[in-house]
Amino acid sequence: MEFRVWRFNPESDSEPRMETHQIEVSRGMMLRDVLLEIKRRDESFAFRHSCGEGVCGSDGVNVNGRNRLACITPVSELKAPVEVRPFPGRPVIRDLVVDMGQFYAQYQAVEPWLKRQEPEPEQEILQSPEERARLDGLWECILCGCCSTSCPSFWWNPDRFLGPQALLSAWRFLADSRDQAEEERLDALDGPYRLFRCHTVMNCVDACPKHLNPTQAIGHIRNLMLKKSV
Ligand code: FES
Repeated sequence: MEFRVWRFNPESDSEPRMETHQIEVSRGMMLRDVLLEIKRRDESFAFRHSCGEGVCGSDGVNVNGRNRLACITPVSELKAPVEVRPFPGRPVIRDLVVDMGQFYAQYQAVEPWLKRQEPEPEQEILQSPEERARLDGLWECILCGCCSTSCPSFWWNPDRFLGPQALLSAWRFLADSRDQAEEERLDALDGPYRLFRCHTVMNCVDACPKHLNPTQAIGHIRNLMLKKSV
């Protein structure tokens, strides 16, 4: 099967190029196995990966135009020739490795931790099964960045627009019955480049390897904001 991988080493290359490899594929093979085979042939080929089972979120790449995690992308699902490129809209460090600093900064900007007005209780704060269920579809995010790096609003304004991942995380804490900072969180999300730069293109929903729905989370925040403003 033919694979074309994006190569660029800023220390030695004046411009990027696509490099073609013919790889013998077998049943059950994942795209990460292909990248490892290419690395076996050429040790200088760079890509990130770790857990190999869709948990660490480090091997996000753009495959035939769609952001995916290489380790859980079966080769049998792909149409040859398979083009593997770095995430769009992020500065390339080398080959498939991009700088995700801005993405993490936006995640940090929504203060993704529980905030309490009351002093910390001695014991854990209990939730009803219904309150706990509100967090399903939110807590599963592994911060791979497939969603935000497929979002045109994030491409154009990565320093100002929070992006789908950070907004999903913002809703994860707004939806949490234990959090007591709703007003503060909503104030921080107001403004043209925070919440309202989302134009519901929905690339994020298509790209998420965990089948989460950042667009829906953004809609929930907008509704809550509206409710609080009347
Ligand atoms: Fe960890 Fe793919 S290697 S998510």
